[in-house]
Amino acid sequence: MKRDGRMKQMVTVLAMAGMAFAVAGCSGDSGTRNDSAQTAETADAQMSGTTEAAGEAQEQGALPEQETVTVQDPQEWEWDAQDKETLRYAFAEAFGGRAGVCVPMAALSDGERMAIVKEQFNSVTMENEMKPDTLLGNKPVIGEDGFPVLSFTVPDMMLKEIKAYNDTEGRDGRKIMVRGHVLVWHSQTPEWFFHEEYNVDKPYVDKQTMLARMENYIRQVMEHYEGEDSEYKGMIYAWDVVNEAVNDTDGGMRTDSSWFRVFYSFDYVEWAFVYANRYAPAHIRLFYNDYNDIHPKKSDGICKLIEQIKSNPEARIDGMGMQGHYDMNFSDVLFKQSVRKYAAVVDEIQITELDLKASTGFDGTDMEEEYQKQADVYKSLYDAVKSLKQEGVPITAIVFWGTDDRHSWLQSANAAGGSADGTRVQCPLLFDKDYEKKPAFWAFVDDSKPEPAAE
Ligand code: GLA
Repeated sequence: MKRDGRMKQMVTVLAMAGMAFAVAGCSGDSGTRNDSAQTAETADAQMSGTTEAAGEAQEQGALPEQETVTVQDPQEWEWDAQDKETLRYAFAEAFGGRAGVCVPMAALSDGERMAIVKEQFNSVTMENEMKPDTLLGNKPVIGEDGFPVLSFTVPDMMLKEIKAYNDTEGRDGRKIMVRGHVLVWHSQTPEWFFHEEYNVDKPYVDKQTMLARMENYIRQVMEHYEGEDSEYKGMIYAWDVVNEAVNDTDGGMRTDSSWFRVFYSFDYVEWAFVYANRYAPAHIRLFYNDYNDIHPKKSDGICKLIEQIKSNPEARIDGMGMQGHYDMNFSDVLFKQSVRKYAAVVDEIQITELDLKASTGFDGTDMEEEYQKQADVYKSLYDAVKSLKQEGVPITAIVFWGTDDRHSWLQSANAAGGSADGTRVQCPLLFDKDYEKKPAFWAFVDDSKPEPAAE
């Protein structure tokens, strides 16, 4: 099962586990990036709904061409003995994907938590620090060009820490890459962003103005992280371009959203993927991300939306991010059905925010029993991922929404999709509140050790 040689080549296209990883060439014409000279106006004509409004949206100046980026097959990474009981090793071997975790800013000053991140994972998603409300801030700061000036201070502190760690690591499988989360979302985006003069007391802007703001936002983000002089260049391997645009009832449009209130259609989603394609280098994988991702009506709606995005020749979408905020009634049958549906419309699938809410009626007393049930559910999910891999379905990462039970967002009530109601103790992750490995950890890493192993 081990391989000796490390495959590290400059490639343009690497066939990997039945999927094609397209990589940007210097010329920009060998990847999936759509650098077409087709104007936004032309694309607009192919879109429904925004005709007069989006028609005048202008490309705000292309970023410089990117250098060729090396893409490796995780199943070719080299490991040594110290990696053997890690999630990143297990995932690379089992399905050729990354092991990810969400990390908040507060974790940087928590040595034990960061030790888990650095020992176990090779993909990090910032919990809040790359979201629009962090970059845009509570109060608008408007530049001379009339667009909000973004502040990258907070995410950059985290990226510096990751970069410092990566610089000390020789092994590629141990290096931490970043999932950018998230560019366009109805939640955690300041309301002023949607209003005339950036003033919530004024009406919503028209679609054309909103598209110009969206384009400028995405451009600034890409320029900061991928621009020629960016010290973070190459650290981000995927972006959630749009989060949660589909509703839970019939898979149609989410309407409790200021994006919806400006557009009254899914067109803003399509445009987000046009702009992301325009400004992101081709090695960055572009994702649509959502929860309730295994519900048949919602997954149908998501696939329909993905088809709409794909019908626009200026847009690029590479992957579906299944948030995976599941519970103990998780159905591996529904999971497999949904993944297969997504695989029919995108190149890759990632589970982007995985956690498990506790059993109904769990009163927090018999933790061992609940831990074991949880391990069994996680194992059924992992078995499904492995069997999908056998079918050639490319799942390229499993990302947990937190390191340990103490710091899970599920511990308190929350109105967000996939949340908990705050009425019972939760133990959703792989490490307990004292950072000890739980049976769920072993369900992924070595299921011959269902009990926590003596260290
Ligand atoms: C959604 C978002 C995440 C996070 C969770 C709650 O799933 O995508 O960024 O806010 O809600 O923690």
